[in-house]
Amino acid sequence: MKISETVAIVTGGASGLGEATVRNFAAGGAKVAIFDMNEARGAQVAAELGDNVIFSKVDVTSEDAVKEGIASAMGAFGRIDACVNCAGIGIAMKTMGKEGPHDYQTFRKVLEINLFGTFNVLRLAVEQMVENEPNADGERGVIVNTASVAAFDGQKGQVAYSASKGAIVGMTLPIARDLAFYGIRICTIAPGLFLTPLFEGLGEKVVESLSAQVTFPKRLGKPSEYGELARNIVESPYLNGETIRLDGAIRLP
Ligand SMILES: NC(=O)c1ccc[n+]([C@@H]2O[C@H](COP(=O)([O-])OP(=O)(O)OC[C@H]3O[C@@H](n4cnc5c(N)ncnc54)[C@H](O)[C@@H]3O)[C@@H](O)[C@H]2O)c1
Repeated sequence: MKISETVAIVTGGASGLGEATVRNFAAGGAKVAIFDMNEARGAQVAAELGDNVIFSKVDVTSEDAVKEGIASAMGAFGRIDACVNCAGIGIAMKTMGKEGPHDYQTFRKVLEINLFGTFNVLRLAVEQMVENEPNADGERGVIVNTASVAAFDGQKGQVAYSASKGAIVGMTLPIARDLAFYGIRICTIAPGLFLTPLFEGLGEKVVESLSAQVTFPKRLGKPSEYGELARNIVESPYLNGETIRLDGAIRLP
């Protein structure tokens, strides 16, 4: 699928990896609908990038909000070819801590946004993709989901986050199989440590010590490198059903 002919939804597109994806796609000539809760940042990114980028305030966990966002994207661009899911949250809480057992509501919230939100958006995007005329490769659409290396090497306090990301890895192949009939592909990116607003706030020392754990190159990932891989997935017809680690070969202990 050529990026210049692609209409994409990018969730979490107001910040970090999602924003970098929006910028990469827009620079390649794609039309992009940002779905995010951060209205100020989302509207600012859309305004900066011009008429080919729109912003909708969408909570990915809400069926109604996602339907409204998709209706806006269809109204503006007339089709949806790609869906990149970057909206997500991370928390730190142990299964059993000094305060007692892991708070159940907090566990549910992380799963609700990271996993259910991802599936909610992709299923409703697919509803539109199946209406597309297939391109010369037989493709009607492509989905890019975001897991994390925490799906494989989760750390202390990451039980909810790792569970949500492990599930995103787990659903990648069955979704590829479910959607093969329609010519819709899916890949998941499992990022390592990326220099997004989250890490920028940690200070130079922490960034230095985290960077030292990366095999090569010894630095945090740049959000633009995530955007580039998301674009490669959209453009490569033979990439399907796979989770790709984007992590400088980091293996967290
Ligand atoms: N930064 C990293 O090192 C890293 C590593 C591995 C995985 N990831 C994953 O990549 C994704 C993006 O992370 P980031 O670092 O860019 O984070 P970020 O906080 O910079 O961006 C996440 C965006 O998601 C939005 N969001 C949160 N909840 C939402 C909801 N319910 N509905 C709609 N939007 C919502 C936020 O407003 C924010 O703009 C996340 O899924 C994260 O788990 C990040």
